[in-house]
Amino acid sequence: MARGDQPLLSQRASSEISNDRDLAEEDALLTGERINRTDNSQRWKSWREIGLFVWALLATSVVIILAVLYQKQHQSAEHGGSNPSRKRNLIFMVSDGMGPTSLSLTRSFNQFQNGLPWSDQLVIDQHLIGQSRTRSTSSLITDSAAGATAFSCGLKSYNGAISVLPNHDPCGTVLEAAKKAGYMTGLVVTTRITDATPACFAAHVNMRGEEDRIAEQLVGDYPLGRVVDLMLGGGRCHFLSNTTQGSCRNDGKDIVAMAKEEGFSYVDDRKGFNGLKSGAAVNLPLLGLFAETDIPYEVDRRNEDNIYPSLDEMARTALRALSDATKNSDKGFFLMIEGSRIDHAGHQNDPVAQVHEVLAYDKAFSSVLEFLEKDPVEGVMVSTSDHETGGLAAARQLHSTYPEYVWYPGPLANASKSSERLAVEYHQYLSGNPSDTTSYVQNAVAEGLGIHDASDAEISALVETPDLAAILFADMISRRSQTGWSTHGHSAADVNIYTSSRSAAAPLIGNHENTEVGEFLRNYLDVDVEAITKELKEKGVLFDTLGADGKSVSWMGRLPEVGERLDGQDHMGHYAGDFKKHKRCDICGV
Ligand SMILES: *[C@@H]1O[C@H](CO)[C@@H](O)[C@H](O)[C@H]1NC(C)=O
Ligand SMILES: *[C@@H]1O[C@H](CO)[C@@H](O)[C@H](O)[C@H]1NC(C)=O
Ligand SMILES: [Zn+2]
Repeated sequence: MARGDQPLLSQRASSEISNDRDLAEEDALLTGERINRTDNSQRWKSWREIGLFVWALLATSVVIILAVLYQKQHQSAEHGGSNPSRKRNLIFMVSDGMGPTSLSLTRSFNQFQNGLPWSDQLVIDQHLIGQSRTRSTSSLITDSAAGATAFSCGLKSYNGAISVLPNHDPCGTVLEAAKKAGYMTGLVVTTRITDATPACFAAHVNMRGEEDRIAEQLVGDYPLGRVVDLMLGGGRCHFLSNTTQGSCRNDGKDIVAMAKEEGFSYVDDRKGFNGLKSGAAVNLPLLGLFAETDIPYEVDRRNEDNIYPSLDEMARTALRALSDATKNSDKGFFLMIEGSRIDHAGHQNDPVAQVHEVLAYDKAFSSVLEFLEKDPVEGVMVSTSDHETGGLAAARQLHSTYPEYVWYPGPLANASKSSERLAVEYHQYLSGNPSDTTSYVQNAVAEGLGIHDASDAEISALVETPDLAAILFADMISRRSQTGWSTHGHSAADVNIYTSSRSAAAPLIGNHENTEVGEFLRNYLDVDVEAITKELKEKGVLFDTLGADGKSVSWMGRLPEVGERLDGQDHMGHYAGDFKKHKRCDICGV
């Protein structure tokens, strides 16, 4: 073999372009048979060519793999840590008006009332990841409308704006974009469903006070049609025609009838709620309105459980219903759950109402965690506040002498009713046939607040200025517990951010602008909010109407007048109870 191979090799040296097949053919022609290539050089060349081929293949593969990896990494960086094409659920919880001190107060109260050690935390405490800065475009102190617009649109606007921008253009919301992308959507609140926070997810008006218009938009009478699949909360009065008992509308429109035409099933009482079987018997879309205005504070509601469902029950019902409804979908759901009245307790400076509202929120928070742990679908919960309310302090200097370092949860534990409820009952008493108002007030203070050492000055203030009763009751408890309040309004304090998953909500770790919370929501769901903004602008003009003066009225309602207050101070009327409904309250300036 070695002999015959020599000339072949020298011949081949001149024909570099020959490929393996040429070589084999040539060998076969010369020898009459297929040669057995055992020559080292020949073997080397052959291996070299195979090597080159493999190397080229490997290099190409590596390039392809790197490209794919880069793309994946790029996507996951944009979408908060994992594959956005997978089915996902997002639960956004809002603790309206809850600042960090609300947690200190409630934690100490809970430890005191249940004899727990000082190391005991609320569930929510264990999920803290960051803080949100809350200012609006019009003030360092935001209201709930601008606050929720930052979450829903991911953009700053003025106090009073319901998902409209300072130039009065509408901005698309994460809920609207989620619906468009195929997600199911829900809103669960304890105030009116037409109040600022829920409204900002599925309505657009220039002034938050236009709750009649918001009700219409929520059931689908606006440029995008129906976008909410489930609504649970209060605010029935804005859905009833002004010819109906229990209405607070300024016109004769029947929004419940409109909702039913849009396909909504409707429940309006505890019996109807029970019929939903904790979500197992829900027909979506669903509208559930369980109170004329706001659902009572938890401290009062717990004694009226046969009338009103709790935040936790509504949250669990919504989770089950939306989860079941998306079982066979490749998209999950977006659900906003609000502990709406923590804010009201702050406005009213009522620490009793406050701690029970926060505990109710903590319970719903806990149920959401449990849902996410059990549910096979990937999901995350993010919880934050729109702002702090009341300028709450777990301290109070009662005298000019240097104060003792004390805060007492005891007086909160002794009270059994909210100051709001006590004031409503007091006004009902006064509107009857009052015989001995002083005794009535003394008794109310002892029974409702657990206060047995009321001063004559405190009692006579209640007797002489019944319109201030809610605030006077709350002040009696606040002083005895040495709870401090700096305002009946909101404050500019940073608020906390919590989550079910640090890794999924990694972009929200640390201190953030509230609009970054909004950006996280849309990114997590991978939805196109800008396309919604465009659609709202294009279709909106078709929904404008003619006013009485023949001028066009925007579908988002009239524009605020210069200097007009929009920040929701009107809803102070609700804090003093339903007897004040529709009237501007006397205590707003307090
Ligand atoms: C109800 O609203 C209509 C406008 O839709 C108004 O004309 C009427 O006076 C209102 N009725 C009452 C009782 O407020
Ligand atoms: C709570 O109520 C009990 C019984 O009425 C009373 O003895 C106690 O002093 C009250 N505690 C506070 C802190 O007011
Ligand atoms: Zn508020």
